[in-house]
Amino acid sequence: MAGKKVFVTRQIPDAGLKLLKHAGYSVKISQTGRAIKHSDLIGELKTGYDALLCLLTDKIDGAVMDAGLPRLKVIANYAVGFDNVDLNAAKDRRLIITNTPSDVVNESVAEHVLSLIFSLAHRVVEADNFTRAGKYKGWQPDLFIGQNLMGKTLGIIGLGRIGKATVRRAVGMDMKVVYHDVVRDKQFEQQYRAKFLSQRELLKTADFVSLNVPLVPATRHLLSTAQFKLMKKTAFVINTSRGPVVDEMALLKALTKHEIAGAGLDVFECEPLIDCNPRDHYELRMMNNVIMTPHTASATVEARADMAVVAAKNIIAALSGKRPPNQVVFK
Ligand code: GLV
Ligand code: GLV
Repeated sequence: MAGKKVFVTRQIPDAGLKLLKHAGYSVKISQTGRAIKHSDLIGELKTGYDALLCLLTDKIDGAVMDAGLPRLKVIANYAVGFDNVDLNAAKDRRLIITNTPSDVVNESVAEHVLSLIFSLAHRVVEADNFTRAGKYKGWQPDLFIGQNLMGKTLGIIGLGRIGKATVRRAVGMDMKVVYHDVVRDKQFEQQYRAKFLSQRELLKTADFVSLNVPLVPATRHLLSTAQFKLMKKTAFVINTSRGPVVDEMALLKALTKHEIAGAGLDVFECEPLIDCNPRDHYELRMMNNVIMTPHTASATVEARADMAVVAAKNIIAALSGKRPPNQVVFK
């Protein structure tokens, strides 16, 4: 395999880079310490690489692919989601696209979903801000009243691997589980007493609605004005999938009008902007009942190292003429 070259768009954990070097590839890593510019990526690929290891913040379009051709064989996205890659363009060019849906990553995201649920139910962030600001003057019967999770209903939209990992944990906390997906998994339903519902019934039933779908045309603005109106006034939305799955303007309105109780967001519609159109008090950042994390649901030592290993293994398989374990299937 000597002579093969891999370009990595940003420093990632060594575990994956070592595998690539062990395979005999020469590996070049963009070392600017920030996301690579589209034009710089094109310029770099023109120098000739067999594989590209890229991030979810890299827009991988036809122009990037053409810059790498004819030598480029595989593009390994260092992420579970791959909405940053133009799959039609890849299909036309017969390029192999891979992602990193490993159990270790799915567990990290599921844990993050639960951490947002716990923090919303027990008002951890609000209470921390209050305590930190020196406002705590003594125990009170009604200070930061939250709610128990036991017996509450978790509604999972998208019962993929991350959705399932989330359900397994929620069941351990004695939550009830309802889910919606394009396909039913009756065995899973029985095993975890998860109830399949239409999306409409799920939204009317759940106390916590967790979005675990990929971003595709059918899931863009999956939650918008009509959907928020169906939800309970006491319900919370958790989004660790992709920002545009939620219509952010509609979310802001639903929160402002108290149509729902709050939100836990790891992703944002106009990421890295937190608000697409910041408008005074309508900003998500001003809302006490919103908890935000900066797209860090898979940011654990374990998950990020595993993502690097999985991406490397996908590249090694593709460049050895084998089917990569996580090849994205073109529709
Ligand atoms: C992160 O958002 C991922 O898709 O892995
Ligand atoms: C990935 O494995 C997912 O289910 O989203």
